[in-house]
Amino acid sequence: MKITIINGPNLNLLGTREKDIYGSQNFESFLNHLRSSFDTIDIDYFQSNIEGEIINFIQKSKNSKGIVLNAAAYTHTSVGIADAVKSVDCKVIEVHISNTFSREKFRHNSYLSPVVDGIIIGFGLDSYRLAIESIITDE
Ligand code: DQA
Repeated sequence: MKITIINGPNLNLLGTREKDIYGSQNFESFLNHLRSSFDTIDIDYFQSNIEGEIINFIQKSKNSKGIVLNAAAYTHTSVGIADAVKSVDCKVIEVHISNTFSREKFRHNSYLSPVVDGIIIGFGLDSYRLAIESIITDE
């Protein structure tokens, strides 16, 4: 079974970026930990700071069991990513590390929330694990 994690802009800086909000662990070390806790699942990972690359990767991931998508700032702006999510049949779970609803008003709107299968927000990096659990327990 393959599950794809897609991270959007600035998430390559996890561990050094706004540590008070996003914590001090970098994503690569967290990903190693995720892969060893889900050792029977093929976890594919892609990060980009470029909107069109994220759209291309969503299209390419249509045969995954599910996509865990943290589109970061594009969550709040991108009709293109929302349309890409609508184009794939697999489950798509929107995740956020921080609780976007306790932050600035512009982070309260998501173009993705109406088109995804589920949303996990505000559990730190554990949001990704919870999203994977929801994909693998879903039949
Ligand atoms: C984020 C929340 C977004 O508002 C922000 O732009 C990010 C990260 C999160 O995971 O908490 O870059 O998606």
